[in-house]
Amino acid sequence: MKKIAVVYHSGFGHTEVQARHVHEGAQSVDGILACLIRAEDAAQEPEKLNDMDAIIFGSPTYLGAVSAPFKAFMDATTGIWSQQQWKDKIAAGFTNSHSLAGDKLSTLIQMAVFGAQHGMIWVGQAEMNTSPEGQPGHKEAVNRVGTMLGASAQSDNADLSVTPSGGDLKSAELFGARVAQITMRMR
Ligand SMILES: Cc1cc2nc3c(=O)[nH]c(=O)nc-3n(C[C@H](O)[C@H](O)[C@H](O)COP(=O)(O)O)c2cc1C
Repeated sequence: MKKIAVVYHSGFGHTEVQARHVHEGAQSVDGILACLIRAEDAAQEPEKLNDMDAIIFGSPTYLGAVSAPFKAFMDATTGIWSQQQWKDKIAAGFTNSHSLAGDKLSTLIQMAVFGAQHGMIWVGQAEMNTSPEGQPGHKEAVNRVGTMLGASAQSDNADLSVTPSGGDLKSAELFGARVAQITMRMR
């Protein structure tokens, strides 16, 4: 079995919904054992991630960056970074915010640089925008936000059962499955 951890923070629950769908997609691939870990818990014992084959990072976009608890997790990995213990693991990332764009790309870049600092191999989003009505921003469209560096979701301040949208959740599942499939290809 290959192991994947989805390490995420969510202040109000929206990114957690997205994270659960990323996890579901990863777990759907034969040979994968996927787990969901809160960034606050991972920050306490980041070395527990050392035996993972892949780590998928997830954070809401707060002020055009990862949230403070997610950054605390990043900083807690400094000892691991100094020994390059995550070198050649697969890395990927997803984010969620209120605005359609919302400077989410900035958060994904921050995560990709974090992965590069660790010597990890970054996997991006590979889904073209697919909309039932040909509209890029359609709520049921896959990758409707149009980020290729990682998976994105947009959330209204609404009931967690309706946001993020169906298209964003499908994107999350496809993204988790893609990372898992690439992880399975690695020796
Ligand atoms: C401190 C703070 C900063 C935020 N900054 C942004 C932002 O830069 N862009 C944006 O689109 N939304 C921003 N938002 C909205 C959140 O990204 C949005 O509510 C998101 O769904 C929260 O995810 P969560 O429920 O997982 O915490 C911000 C929210 C907070 C609390």
